[in-house]
This record gives sequence, structure tokens and C-alpha cells, in this order.
Amino acid sequence: MSLEQAKLVAAYRAVDEFVQNNNIVGIGSGSTVVYAVQRLAERVETENLNVTCIPTSFQAKQLIIKHNLILGELDTNPIIDVTIDGADEVDANMTLIKGGGGCLLQEKIIASCSKKMIVIADYTKDSEKLGDRYKKGIPIEVVPMAYVPIKIKIIQMFGGEIKLRSAIAKAGPVVTDNGNFILDWLFTNQDLDWDQVNSEIKMIPGVVETGLFVKMCNKAYFGQAEGTVAERS
Ligand code: A5P
Repeated sequence: MSLEQAKLVAAYRAVDEFVQNNNIVGIGSGSTVVYAVQRLAERVETENLNVTCIPTSFQAKQLIIKHNLILGELDTNPIIDVTIDGADEVDANMTLIKGGGGCLLQEKIIASCSKKMIVIADYTKDSEKLGDRYKKGIPIEVVPMAYVPIKIKIIQMFGGEIKLRSAIAKAGPVVTDNGNFILDWLFTNQDLDWDQVNSEIKMIPGVVETGLFVKMCNKAYFGQAEGTVAERS
């Protein structure tokens, strides 16, 4: 079974277990969420569900539109019943690294407005400690003018190395949906208190958000190579 199939089974399971009629649903970003939106569209059609979808990114918005789902916004739907989103890594305490796709800020806002946040992922995202599986570090969204001092401060505080994320199809840095830059922090100490690290990094002027999601995720589904789904809550 392929990695794509592992993503699909996790996504389908989450949509089937957690989405109900008349729900406001947060739609995450990334490649796994594509399968969740596919399944949601199927259920809306066959079960005639009334579901409003709140996107976490430009990509999520396009997916909602493509599948003819109802597109909502936070202004009119500030309380979300359930958000289904991917993750780059999930540790044993359900702390997440998110933002591999650069959408961490909107993803965290939507998760913070959700009664439940459900993560869908393939088995490669399931780890004991952050950094065991995901080697690209913790993404940090920053205001462009402050990226150099923020880099210096984080390294002074916690060590490691920081890279300004570069665009692939353009010369220069990645610019997020919100006009900011992304720093990828390659931490070396895997035994940090992530709650504290998140709070301290967020106190640095110019930091907009971190890709550390601490105590936000209620349940994670991991699609397995053989087609089953493991869960953690
Ligand atoms: C987007 O910014 C990320 O947080 C994604 O949710 C995360 O990178 C997971 O993406 P995949 O489902 O493509 O692995």
C-alpha cells in the first residue's frame, strides 16, 4: 500500500467519525487534507449534509471551491465544531510540528477556534519525540523586517540552526499567505518543554506564530502501510 493510500485511510476515518450534519468544519492544508475534502464532498452529496467549511489557507479555499462545498469565514463562524488538518510530526504527547506547507498561522488560528482538532497523517509522521521523524525543523512565521534579529535571538535562547525558507519557483524567500517570511528552526535539543519554548519564541517582537501546536490536538489518525488506521488521543 502506498503512502498516498495511508493518507487516504486516515483522512476518510476522521471525516466519517467527526463530521456531522450542520457542522462548521475547519479545513486544514497539505496533501493529506485533499483526501479529507474529497470524502467530505462525497458525504455531503450522498447524505445531503449541511456543512460550512472554513479554510486554513489559499490551498484549502481552492479545495473547498473545487468540491462545491459551502465556503465560510471566521467573521461569521467564529466557533468551529471540528477542524481536520495534517501535521508534519506528532509526538507521544500530541504536540505537533506544523507549517511544512507554510500555512501555520491560519492553521493555528482555526485550530484555536475549534471545539476539536483532529490530525490526519500517514505513519511517517508518528514519532516519540519531535525531531525523531521530521528533519526540517520547526517553522516560525515572522515579519520580514525582523527575520535576522529573530534568528539570532532564538539561537541564543535554545541553540540549533535557523534557515530562511526559500522559494522553489522564484528567487528569494517564501512569502506566506499573510505576507510574512518563514524561518525553519533546526533544533538540536529534543527534550525541551515545547509549551514554554512556544511561549518564549512568541514573545520575541516580530514573531507572528510558531508551528508548535501544544495541547491543541484532540485526536490523531495515522494511516498505516497495510491499510489500517492507528489512533492517538
Ligand atoms: C501546512 O502548513 C502544514 O501544516 C501541513 O498540514 C503539514 O505540512 C502536513 O502536510 P501533508 O499532509 O502534505 O503531509
